[in-house]
Amino acid sequence: MIRKAEKSDYEEMDFVFRESAKALCIRNYEKSKVLDWVGKPWAERFVESANKGNDQFVKISNGKVVAFAELNTEKFMLNSIFVLSNYAGKGIGQELLEFLISKAKEAGIQYLKLDASLNAVNFYLRNGFKKCGVSKFTTQNGVVLDSVQMKCVFGT
Ligand SMILES: CC(C)(COP(=O)(O)OP(=O)(O)OC[C@H]1O[C@@H](n2cnc3c(N)ncnc32)[C@H](O)[C@@H]1OP(=O)(O)O)[C@@H](O)C(=O)NCCC(=O)NCCS
Repeated sequence: MIRKAEKSDYEEMDFVFRESAKALCIRNYEKSKVLDWVGKPWAERFVESANKGNDQFVKISNGKVVAFAELNTEKFMLNSIFVLSNYAGKGIGQELLEFLISKAKEAGIQYLKLDASLNAVNFYLRNGFKKCGVSKFTTQNGVVLDSVQMKCVFGT
């Protein structure tokens, strides 16, 4: 089940973010950079993110948060999808992506942009996004990550 995130989900989402980044992003970045990025447990990151206008959604499996995603319809931006590493490769990322695209369409948006971490580029390419540039993405806690700018224009 995918549903809107609640404040009571933030600790679990923080765990998912930190575990997923450490397990799955480490293949494409220096370990020290990923460790700086994930930092210490900090559930308030999601309060900050919600205050910036991001809509947050969680995927629940067996009663726990196994993945989450954030969307900013005002900025036409897909901000994040993170899946617990044990649940990766099972289509959950794709399910969340399709969910976000349906939310974006509901909001009257015709396209979404994102800054993909290097490990996620193939995932987005397989799911209809195209590369449109490269960027140095600054994370919430100020770490600069090489990333790929991508865009998906929705069909009718
Ligand atoms: C990118 C991500 C969201 C994709 O979600 P997912 O549920 O794993 O998506 P899929 O099931 O479609 O599988 C995606 C990839 O996992 C690989 N995979 C297969 N089995 C796997 C396993 N047991 N463990 C990890 N990855 C596996 C697949 O080969 C596929 O690789 P590719 O996309 O490079 O071709 C997820 O891997 C993730 O959370 N990564 C870390 C955070 C991140 O980078 N998020 C994107 C930030 S913009």
